[in-house]
Amino acid sequence: MSSRVAVVTGSNKGIGLAIVRALCKQFQGDVYLTARDVGRGQAAVESLASEGLKPLFHQLNVSDVNSITTAAAFFKDKYGGVDILVNNAGILFKTGDTTPFAIQAEETLKVNFFAARDVLTHFLPLIKAGGRVVNVSSMIGSQALSQSSPALQQRFRSQDITEDEVVGLMQRFVNEAKKDEHKQGGWPTTAYGVSKMGLTTLSMILARRLSIERPNDGILVNACCPGWVRTDMTSQDAHKSPDEGAITPVYLALLPPGATEPQGKFLSDKEVQPW
Ligand SMILES: NC(=O)c1ccc[n+]([C@@H]2O[C@H](COP(=O)([O-])OP(=O)(O)OC[C@H]3O[C@@H](n4cnc5c(N)ncnc54)[C@H](OP(=O)(O)O)[C@@H]3O)[C@@H](O)[C@H]2O)c1
Ligand SMILES: *[C@@H]1O[C@H](CO)[C@@H](O)[C@H](O)[C@H]1NC(C)=O
Ligand SMILES: *[C@@H]1O[C@H](CO)[C@@H](O)[C@H](O)[C@H]1NC(C)=O
Repeated sequence: MSSRVAVVTGSNKGIGLAIVRALCKQFQGDVYLTARDVGRGQAAVESLASEGLKPLFHQLNVSDVNSITTAAAFFKDKYGGVDILVNNAGILFKTGDTTPFAIQAEETLKVNFFAARDVLTHFLPLIKAGGRVVNVSSMIGSQALSQSSPALQQRFRSQDITEDEVVGLMQRFVNEAKKDEHKQGGWPTTAYGVSKMGLTTLSMILARRLSIERPNDGILVNACCPGWVRTDMTSQDAHKSPDEGAITPVYLALLPPGATEPQGKFLSDKEVQPW
């Protein structure tokens, strides 16, 4: 139970894989590459092994609560908790995808917001003193916020918004999108943007809650944008390589012992961004 441990969700490819690569080089402890599909996960572990790195593997499908609770129980038993959790798994319907907006809204929120929250519910109690939690969110979430109605902006920026309220607002977005009423409801027409706006807000709530409930544990929770990164989610025109995209998430994951900030912030290129 003595080893330190880092866990990265959705890390069989893209930015998640690059975060695992960097943590293998920089973190003193075990690093878990996780994936919803065991075959894709093990292939990714082998690709890093061929670079001389030694990540470990655990199956984790963030959309499946049984998979989350199984993984959480494993880390509790084997390590007594988790030192670093990076919530990276995410999906995006690309521009031009003909899937109806109602379905895009439901599917995107399911993975990027509701599943990320389920991971939080089950992993937050396991985060050890001095732990670091990093949510890979997006600038597109900030843009979605600025394109939302003044009433929604006021709620998402308020210091007293609760987890239940954000969950209710995300559910309201999905319900309104299904009736094609989300514009009247004050939302922009971007399921991905709304999901990340919820994710960033949830990280901020989580950070505030931890500083009240575990004030002496020194746990830091932040969200970040990796930048525009060349992965299957985007295109080869994007500015950054996956390793470059991993820089800000890894910086937040490895904030030194005793650090007190950033806490509950949204960062890009290692800089705190306005919210
Ligand atoms: N690329 C960018 O420019 C950019 C910009 C801003 C934010 N981001 C964010 O960065 C994160 C990583 O994106 P990426 O560009 O690296 O995308 P990617 O290459 O498409 O990788 C996404 C990863 O998430 C996994 N995943 C999806 N749903 C999952 C689930 N239910 N359970 C477990 N894993 C799941 C995927 O697994 P499978 O292989 O099984 O599908 C894959 O490993 C996402 O949160 C994304 O929103 C990316
Ligand atoms: C992940 O879990 C969801 C929900 O249970 C399921 O529909 C999906 O097939 C799972 N994905 C994989 C790759 O197992
Ligand atoms: C931030 O990290 C927590 C920690 O597990 C995660 O579960 C939570 O869902 C994340 N916040 C958001 C808004 O996703």
